[in-house]
Amino acid sequence: FQAPYPPYDPTDTSGFSYDTVVKRWPIILTNIIDHVHRLLHDMTIEAQQVRDLDVSKAEELSKKTTEGQEIISEISRLKYRMARDHELENILQDGDILVAEYNAELESLKQTSRNTWFKAPWLYAECYLYRLIRTYFNQRTYWRGFDPFSTQKEEMFKNSGAAIYQIATTMHELESEKVKLQGDPDKLEVLFKEMIQMCLWGNATDLSLLTHLSPSDIEHLQTVGKEAQEARSEFILKDDQGDVWSYVKTLANQGKRLDFVLDNAGFELFTDFVFADFLVTYTPYFSQVVFHPKLFPWFVSDVTPTDFTNTISSLLSATFFPPNSTTSPDSAAHLQQMVTRWKSYIDKGIFTLATDITNGQKMSEFWNGPWPYWNMNELAPELGQWLSGSGLVIFKGDLNYRKLAGDVKWPVSTPFPTAIGPLAGSFPLLSLRTNKADVAVGIDEKVAENLDNKGEKWRVSGR
Ligand code: F6P
Ligand code: MG
Repeated sequence: FQAPYPPYDPTDTSGFSYDTVVKRWPIILTNIIDHVHRLLHDMTIEAQQVRDLDVSKAEELSKKTTEGQEIISEISRLKYRMARDHELENILQDGDILVAEYNAELESLKQTSRNTWFKAPWLYAECYLYRLIRTYFNQRTYWRGFDPFSTQKEEMFKNSGAAIYQIATTMHELESEKVKLQGDPDKLEVLFKEMIQMCLWGNATDLSLLTHLSPSDIEHLQTVGKEAQEARSEFILKDDQGDVWSYVKTLANQGKRLDFVLDNAGFELFTDFVFADFLVTYTPYFSQVVFHPKLFPWFVSDVTPTDFTNTISSLLSATFFPPNSTTSPDSAAHLQQMVTRWKSYIDKGIFTLATDITNGQKMSEFWNGPWPYWNMNELAPELGQWLSGSGLVIFKGDLNYRKLAGDVKWPVSTPFPTAIGPLAGSFPLLSLRTNKADVAVGIDEKVAENLDNKGEKWRVSGR
């Protein structure tokens, strides 16, 4: 599929991709350097401590340190080349996925002289960057498969304790209403929309919008929910909640599957689990959920299979969140109860990680590629096939949205089904995204113009 508009790239110095290559990527790279540097510092101290006691351990630490220094110099070299608009280099064969695919795309960019950091399409260059970082670690014996963002992901998650306990208590309160709920579609609709919005705002960096999620009974939630929804509605530029609900209602008692194309680990993944749990436990619409992770560290905070597994154990650990984040004495018990249910769903195959199903590893490679999703059926037929059997596919977050719309310069009023090209009609899909990149469709031109005139950075502010 060829879109009738060009992709976003940093040749437009007023766009967010220019900002990204000038400021944001160098910061991300510097953070990796700092992180590896700190680890090397700790390793040096440890090596001194074990020097006389465990010679082989000391030797291993010293080799790992040398390799770490090599990684640091490679990343520094990359920063230098990036800032000077040098060419993107071929990804070296490191025995991991998609090397040939990235290099083939790079070769075709070369044909049109768009193979440098300030000329390459933003979407390609950003995906390439994370694949390139992967090779730096993969080529080393002691660093192969290392996730340079895992500490950051975990720290962020630890800071979300208060909201997490609060949501756990809200979910606990639903339990006593379960029977009533199932016979009352109006109440179910209100809750469904609350859940959708929690899951949406879980993608925002500003989590303050979630504080309304603590009403103690459903009647109350019904009114608070409506008011809060109205208050937030001005922040939602494209709102299809009504349509989603009308569609989902048609799925009752058919044992349908929900697919979640995940975005970020930590709090956002928590909200995805809550939404999935709500649908399976309290509604008749879905009986299983498949979660699609990324196979290697991606856009800093995205969920890898390791993050997925660790999330459950972190949530079940009594010591993961700082003690002062518990909002009520009971909320820790509510969280335990809820996550124990998730764990039982995982054990029973009601919740499944895509990489655990037959062909799942192969199927999942596509999400770490540089392509718009409209090429899915040609490039990843087994994935297209899988999703075509889904009751609903939820794409989380900004990058998934960019890939759905191909990250090209669609006029803002382009209908979403047009912007996703041949993917429209392939399977029922819902995109939940807070805006963090220029591409945006399905929005009234007047609305966009007004926001622009007010000086709002609405395309990229995440609000
Ligand atoms: O802030 C911009 C950005 O890093 C984009 O490069 C990318 O599309 C997006 O954020 C990642 O956000 P999300 O985690 O919502 O996909
Ligand atoms: Mg992300």
